[in-house]
Amino acid sequence: MRRAALVTGASRGIGLAVAKALAADGVAVCVTARDPAALSSAVRELGPHALTCPGDAADASHVEEAVARTVAAFGRLDILVNNAATNAPLGPLIDADPLAWRRAFTLNVEAPLRLTQAAWRAWMRDHGGAVVNICTEGTHGVGPGVGAYGASKTALLRLTRQLAAELAPGVRVNAVSPGLIRTEMARFVWEPDEPSIAATLPLARIGEPEDVARAVRWLVSDEASWITGTDLVVDGGRRVRAAFPGGTQPR
Ligand SMILES: NC(=O)c1ccc[n+]([C@@H]2O[C@H](COP(=O)([O-])OP(=O)(O)OC[C@H]3O[C@@H](n4cnc5c(N)ncnc54)[C@H](OP(=O)(O)O)[C@@H]3O)[C@@H](O)[C@H]2O)c1
Repeated sequence: MRRAALVTGASRGIGLAVAKALAADGVAVCVTARDPAALSSAVRELGPHALTCPGDAADASHVEEAVARTVAAFGRLDILVNNAATNAPLGPLIDADPLAWRRAFTLNVEAPLRLTQAAWRAWMRDHGGAVVNICTEGTHGVGPGVGAYGASKTALLRLTRQLAAELAPGVRVNAVSPGLIRTEMARFVWEPDEPSIAATLPLARIGEPEDVARAVRWLVSDEASWITGTDLVVDGGRRVRAAFPGGTQPR
């Protein structure tokens, strides 16, 4: 029988690429995002076994609705990809509005927990499944102006490990941590100076959403059936760039 997935934040960028990769593998996919028009347009790229559930992942009632709608439509929920996130508030953390900080944690940490809890209750506790949380390569360092984002994604990484331990052996919970990917969220980083950023990366280009989608697709497949609680970094080798100052490997 066809597996079923729920992918949050999937009207564009990494979420849409993940939904497409899963659909190409024959998975029925429910996609979410706040803008219903963009979501309707995106779902047309996913083939006949796809549906939308517009709404804000930070909204607890939407989370319940998304899981319920997926199970009602497809009869199961094997795969959950927690992808929707915000990088706001940008700027020094010392000046951050605590309410904006709270919103970041609600969307980036609390929503993935709520979604996993709902998926567990609705299907995965009895039938198993795979959860992937989209974190960021940036949790491994300190970047300027992204303190709330980095702190919340670090919490998501820790949540990933905790749930991996709690939900085993039936449900595998892993993270994928992208480096710089060509999407709207990161446009302010890559657009002003893509060639020089690419030159600092061992693999000599910034990432595409499909680079991340392939990692997610593999992690939720049976090929990864003995992997849980891990963080798969998809960053073009960013962490080893310091080995070659200036980004160029001596030949
Ligand atoms: N791009 C990068 O370089 C990069 C690097 C590391 C990690 N990531 C992570 O990758 C994930 C996807 O980011 P992206 O770069 O693909 O971003 P993106 O291109 O801006 O896409 C974000 C998607 O999430 C939806 N979304 C945003 N807020 C939402 C909310 N509150 N509820 C439901 N849906 C929401 C957006 O649609 P609506 O606006 O209509 O809701 C859109 O479909 C995020 O977890 C991000 O932190 C990205």
